Amino acid sequence: MMVKDINKEVFDESTLLKLEIFGDCFREWFPVFIHNPFIKKISIYDFFAGSGKDPVGNHGSPLVLLRESMGNDRSYCSKIKKPIEFIFNESLKRKSRTLDDNVRHYLSTCENDKGCNQCVYATSVENEEFKDCFYDSRVQGNLRNEEIGKFILLDQYGFKEIDNQIFLDLVNSPKTDFIFFISSSFINRFKEEPNTKIHIDTEKINFDASLPNECHRVIANYFRNMIPQGKEYYLHHFSIKKGGNYYGLIFGSNHSLGMEKFLKVCWEKDELSGESNFNIDNDFEEDSLFYNSEKSNKKQKIKKKIQNKILNQEIRDNISGMKYTLKNGCLPRLFTEVIKELEDKNTIKRFGDLNFASTSIHKIKEYEIKIC
Ligand SMILES: C[S@@+](CC[C@H](N)C(=O)[O-])C[C@H]1O[C@@H](n2cnc3c(N)ncnc32)[C@H](O)[C@@H]1O
Repeated sequence: MMVKDINKEVFDESTLLKLEIFGDCFREWFPVFIHNPFIKKISIYDFFAGSGKDPVGNHGSPLVLLRESMGNDRSYCSKIKKPIEFIFNESLKRKSRTLDDNVRHYLSTCENDKGCNQCVYATSVENEEFKDCFYDSRVQGNLRNEEIGKFILLDQYGFKEIDNQIFLDLVNSPKTDFIFFISSSFINRFKEEPNTKIHIDTEKINFDASLPNECHRVIANYFRNMIPQGKEYYLHHFSIKKGGNYYGLIFGSNHSLGMEKFLKVCWEKDELSGESNFNIDNDFEEDSLFYNSEKSNKKQKIKKKIQNKILNQEIRDNISGMKYTLKNGCLPRLFTEVIKELEDKNTIKRFGDLNFASTSIHKIKEYEIKIC
């Protein structure tokens, strides 16, 4: 199948949405790692970087990342105290050269506009096949290094680059958050093809023919099931409908804060389900009389699940309750809503450090929950 060059046509609405999510996600991620005293260096990888722009000058992912890294009024780059490097890779020579020009131009314009001598960030543009770049010893050394914070963008065409091994390498890399794009409908359509099975074990995927709009959820579950048992890890997805096809993003982090930040971005884009650019859970439409984003089907369903877990005592404290909520694609405040409701009905009692804090859960004091 011949793929169209994404940078040759003006980015369409779904590409712009994808880029917006990349940018928003990085905007949330970057300050956390800048301010983390245990992180000595930050590496940002964009392994399928493209040429930097579309024909009308819309920024592609590398320039989106550079733009976000400056911060409002240069609040980040003017105060930076640790080395920050951006590594952009693009396998097509022509596109890699254009990207190099675009990055240089972007940085020199930025330096002139802001009156800086030289940008504090190091940038490099590589021209390699993804896997050669990914398995390069320097990249692998960075991936394994606990003192280096890594943000990894994998904006592949189709689905063939992020195979099981790459996924597991990412999941097992410390201080590494990643986000990748995948054409979920195509896996569904070509699931029987030997050429698909080389990359994705489609025997392990149960697509529901009656629910094509959920195919990216199914693909996200395929990857979720690959996470080593017992490992604390967070994975969430965002489905993007374009015409009759479903694409999507998959985000992974080994820290609850990473997932809180990604979910914040997702719920800002989709206040009903926090996971799509369409009405994935058949809620009332926004302009209808019964529209109520606070009581969306997804929120109601997850609230019920949380409630049941509390009542059968599988959840006995706030921290594990909030982590469970995150793993179900919802922000921790949904857990707090359930707690308040159960407490109001005298169904539960809380003991210990009582609070209703619901953000940065790694810092929240723990309390116990007992059934009355
Ligand atoms: C979806 S586009 C990425 C677009 C880019 N993120 C942007 O915002 O403009 C995928 C890019 O990856 C490049 N590519 C395809 N296969 C690759 C491979 N095996 N290794 C590296 N780059 C590859 C393509 O040439 C294309 O420019």
